[in-house]
Amino acid sequence: MNPIELHPGLADVPVAESAISFIDGHKARLEYRGIAVETLARESCYEETAYLLLKGELPTQRELADFDDQLRHRRRIKYKLIDIIKCLPETGHPMYALQAAVAAMGMFYPARDVTNAQSNWDSAVRLIAKLPTVVAAFHRLRHGDDAITPRDDLDQAGNFYYMLFEREPSPAIRKVIDACLVLHAEHTMNASTFSGRVTGSTLANPYTVISSAIGTLTGPLHGGANEEVLDMLDEVAAAPSVQAWVDDAVAKKKKFMGFGHRVYKVKDPRATVLQELAEHVFAETGRPKRYDLAVELEAALAGILGPKGIYPNVDYYSGIVYNALGIPRDLFTPIFAVSRVAGWLAHWLEQLQHNRIYRPEQIYVGKREQPYVTLEKRP
Ligand code: SDX
Repeated sequence: MNPIELHPGLADVPVAESAISFIDGHKARLEYRGIAVETLARESCYEETAYLLLKGELPTQRELADFDDQLRHRRRIKYKLIDIIKCLPETGHPMYALQAAVAAMGMFYPARDVTNAQSNWDSAVRLIAKLPTVVAAFHRLRHGDDAITPRDDLDQAGNFYYMLFEREPSPAIRKVIDACLVLHAEHTMNASTFSGRVTGSTLANPYTVISSAIGTLTGPLHGGANEEVLDMLDEVAAAPSVQAWVDDAVAKKKKFMGFGHRVYKVKDPRATVLQELAEHVFAETGRPKRYDLAVELEAALAGILGPKGIYPNVDYYSGIVYNALGIPRDLFTPIFAVSRVAGWLAHWLEQLQHNRIYRPEQIYVGKREQPYVTLEKRP
């Protein structure tokens, strides 16, 4: 038996074999089922990418049409679920509303028998179809507006934008949203995916699995970073200069949000694609000052962080794109969840194929064989 070694954050520790996605962190390569993410963002769509992740192959034309139809007809949420969302505090973070609603879904759609492939598939379709509706409903209801009923004639990206703003996006804006959904859909064994796998390994129902993953994604070191990047750029904008802010941040050993990654030791390929997408958005919305500031900050940090292998990750530019689309900051991470649910579900289904409950070890550093001192003998 090998001596037990501690691996903080499970760095470099493989916890499963998976065929869903692949990252080469030194060559900025990310593939979903072997296909480069840049190609999928440009040529594919979220519906097709979700099918690819779940099934392992690109769909035939008929398979895609059928899957798309299933999604469109499963988008509506129960009135009772809307009532639950209405009871949540308007000031609460939308990620908490999403997590609560998804956990509740498991009560409306009982799916405890995870050995039933059809039931698992139906749950997966429901979750991919309904998460955008939940996010948009909470956003509308918290402002005192009615939730907007999903439209069957719009695709996932267009319908999400429509449910948020009660108007259809332009073709260019729709494409950008769709590409953002593709870019965020899957990313090997990230924290929220691992969290979902751990929950799924106990044979918990899929709604609980996704609720676990959503909870994990909220953290600022993970999916919550995209919102924090805009807050950081606000600070930079208020400083005398970018360099002055950098000097102060380095002196205070600040963590730069949107930078660094456990796997990428070069710039995250998704950040590069997001910059391209940003240009498309800005052609319609105008070029926000925050974007040029972000580019300037990236250049100013390159000399300091680059030698450490710390570069922009997916969260660095995504919030700037969403901000330019008029999407409020606290919806940035819910959009991440609305996309990543496909990857989480793909890992859940894969986990069930060769399931073994996750139960790692620990290195005990506490006291042993202590006496019990009764209360009266204690000070
Ligand atoms: C996502 O895992 C995934 O795939 C996640 C994700 C996905 O698609 O699912 O890619 C999405 O979560 C992207 C990451 C978003 N988070 C942030 O942008 C928050 C800022 N980033 C850091 O907190 C950090 O880079 C992490 C959390 C992303 C990675 O953490 P690691 O791998 O555990 O690295 P670490 O914290 O151990 O840092 C190693 C060194 C440290 O220096 P030393 O103490 O050894 O001297 O690098 C430094 C860190 O201080 N460092 C940073 C830094 N990131 C690492 N220093 C300043 N700013 C940073 N952003």
